[in-house]
Amino acid sequence: MKRTLTSLEGQPLEGQRAVVRVDFNVPLKNGAVADATRIEATLPTLRWLRSRGTRIILLSHLGRPTAARDAKYSLRPVVKELEHLLGAPVAFMEDPTTEAAARQSRQFKRGEVCLAENTRFFPGEEKNDPELAKAFARLGDFYVNDAFGAAHRAHASTEAIAHLLKPAVAGFLMAKELEYLGALMANPQRPFVAVLGGAKISGKIDVIENLLPRVDEILIGGAMACTFFAAMGLEVGKSLVEADRVALARQLLDRGGQKIVLPLGAVVAGEAEPGVETRSVGRDAIPADLAVFDIDRSTQEEFGARIKQARTIVWNGPMGVAEVPPFDAGTLAIAHAMADATARGATTVIGGGDSAAAVTAAGLQDKMTHVSTGGGASLEFLEGKTLPGVAALDDA
Ligand code: 3PG
Repeated sequence: MKRTLTSLEGQPLEGQRAVVRVDFNVPLKNGAVADATRIEATLPTLRWLRSRGTRIILLSHLGRPTAARDAKYSLRPVVKELEHLLGAPVAFMEDPTTEAAARQSRQFKRGEVCLAENTRFFPGEEKNDPELAKAFARLGDFYVNDAFGAAHRAHASTEAIAHLLKPAVAGFLMAKELEYLGALMANPQRPFVAVLGGAKISGKIDVIENLLPRVDEILIGGAMACTFFAAMGLEVGKSLVEADRVALARQLLDRGGQKIVLPLGAVVAGEAEPGVETRSVGRDAIPADLAVFDIDRSTQEEFGARIKQARTIVWNGPMGVAEVPPFDAGTLAIAHAMADATARGATTVIGGGDSAAAVTAAGLQDKMTHVSTGGGASLEFLEGKTLPGVAALDDA
């Protein structure tokens, strides 16, 4: 258990400076924030600190800039969105690593919020450089990590700084993510069903290995199901198959037994383009000249029925090419089945990334118990790995 913001209740926070690491790695379009979910998710932490008169210096990365100060990756466009959501002005700090920045941080008014420029603009961030962490630490009197989405990165602003700026606590978003994802691993209500999809089995092997002994069933969709079909000796046509993982898929099927549930049939086509002719076929009748792009209706029903009888469901990865209708039908069906399960009292957790995007696109995000803001981070959590950004925080 990690120490959270709540443990600071009652302490003299007024006028103190909080360095808050957030994950504002959000999509931008035409110079504006295209999806503010990750920003909204940090508001409880920011409001709590502001209401106690704390001065807030926000650190975040954006994208993966290769050259220092590539304007395309500036966090400046986020200021306006944050001001709108917070209902308060937000200052911007071009260079949070200088002495002048540290002085400036002492001049902020109580409750004032300042967003610093992209941490990845500064050499050393991704190398977890203690010198850079020291510079970031000069901006505050304590450290709050609310960047669950970046917790799997051991970077200067997520890991090294937590050893230098104390107390180092989890923000409310971080605590919520750890609570819901942690409960899956610790004591899930049974039956516990995992739904896994996505293009490649290679990216999900560790998740399957870690979940197999814990879950009652793993339902597998997406192109990765085709690698399992190949392992079963079925014709897979032109489907995406990882030839070098077929033997591993066979081993997993042997080990998993009844626990691994594969699609009964698929939607096949020549290519995943809008308007192409599609066919639904049984899994043993995939034509040699076509490829699998979605689960078929019988699988939607089969998976839906298994989701319906579960008390805990975790989902990571789309069932088909969800960004190209009509190949989004299987993914949407899972999203609706999960929403129905939530309504019946089951715990439903969406493991971030593409599945979170699909749930949001379907407008069902409020119908899930928890939609993680972390893609890679929730995947690593489900793999059973330690997240360095979490490990570095103070123990409760
Ligand atoms: C994410 O979007 O998954 C996080 O912000 C981490 O980004 P990264 O993969 O570039 O470290």
